[in-house]
Order: sequence, then structure tokens, then C-alpha cells
Amino acid sequence: MLMTPANTVIFAFAYVIVGTLALGGLSAAPWVRTRKRLRDFIASRADLKDGAIVYDLGCGDGAVLFSLAERYPTIKAIGYEIALLPYVIGLVTKAFGGKAYRNVSIRCRDFFGPDLSDADAVFIFLLAESYPRVMKKLSKELRDDAKVVVAAWPFPGIAAERAERAAPDVLPVYFYRGAALRAAASSVRD
Ligand SMILES: C[S@@+](CC[C@H](N)C(=O)[O-])C[C@H]1O[C@@H](n2cnc3c(N)ncnc32)[C@H](O)[C@@H]1O
Repeated sequence: MLMTPANTVIFAFAYVIVGTLALGGLSAAPWVRTRKRLRDFIASRADLKDGAIVYDLGCGDGAVLFSLAERYPTIKAIGYEIALLPYVIGLVTKAFGGKAYRNVSIRCRDFFGPDLSDADAVFIFLLAESYPRVMKKLSKELRDDAKVVVAAWPFPGIAAERAERAAPDVLPVYFYRGAALRAAASSVRD
């Protein structure tokens, strides 16, 4: 194929799209959207206070954040996403959502970087292989009372405060607190 300037741009764009999707998969999990029934269930159980700050680490196209924002209009919902394609879809969804999504912020960033000490709640739907690094970050940064909502696989070596599932064919959800994560981390260090 002739490498015209237009072809070069298309290749470069495809390279970035595929490359960043692969990066997400290698870092913590590939892009797999949380299904609507699970999103609705999480929103119904999250019990977020007015003005709560909520993070989704690896937010994909922001689907969970948008569901939370619909149910809790006063929260500040922040998602970090490393893959360009879901990030752009998230931005478009936010733009079309108008006022309903004004408090949702989707940021194209590696979630291992930003500090989470202001979080009231953190949601994750990631591969269990990433948990040791994720747990280390959460145990260092979260306040004692911050909620951690984990879809699919529980954290190893720490009892969840609650474990619930909407139905047998919907992924389970595990609820933790920052304090429990810190206690688990310090018992590993001791
Ligand atoms: C299983 S998907 C979950 C998407 C979304 N949270 C949901 O529930 O619909 C995991 C997402 O994490 C992203 N991801 C993986 N590692 C990341 C990292 N270090 N920083 C930011 N995003 C990451 C992937 O690109 C992917 O979109």
C-alpha cells in the first residue's frame, strides 16, 4: 500500500487506538464494559452522600460513573482511563448527556498516578492480577471511611464488609473500607 500522508495519519491513529487498548490490558485489565444490570445494582447499593467524590479506576467509557451520576446528581464522579477509544466515547457521552453528566469528569491518565486521598468511594472492575499494586495504592491513600466497591473478584487476604450480587447471572460486588485495606497491608508488612 502506498504511504500517502492520509494513510500515514490513519495508521498512526490506528496504532494509538490499538496500542493504548493493549496498554490497558497489560496494566490492569482490558476494556470490558460493566453491564447495565450490574451498573444499576452498584448504583442502588453505593449509598453515596451529597457531594461525595467517587473515582472509577480504569473507567472505560465512563458507564459506571454515568449511572452513578444519574442516581446521585450531586456527586463528583471522576474516572481515569488509559485507552484512547473508550476515553473518547466517554467524552462524547458526557457531551450528549448535558446537565445530567456535568459532574462527571473522564481523564485520560494512568490511574496509578493521581492521589486518591479525597475519595469518598472508589470503584474498580479490573483483573485480579492487578490487585497487589492496586491494593497498595488504596491502602496508602484512602481515608479510613472511604468505600471501595470491587466488581467480579474479591481482594485476596481481606474480608469484605459485604458481598452481594443482583442475580446469579450478574457479577458479584464486594464492599471494603480504606481502614480494612490499610490493616491488611500493615499485617503483610509486619
Ligand atoms: C474491565 S474495564 C472496566 C471499565 C469500567 N470501569 C466499567 O466498569 O465499565 C478496565 C479498564 O481499565 C483501563 N485501565 C487498565 N489499566 C489502566 C491504568 N493503569 N490506568 C487507567 N486505565 C487503565 C482499561 O483500559 C479498561 O478500559
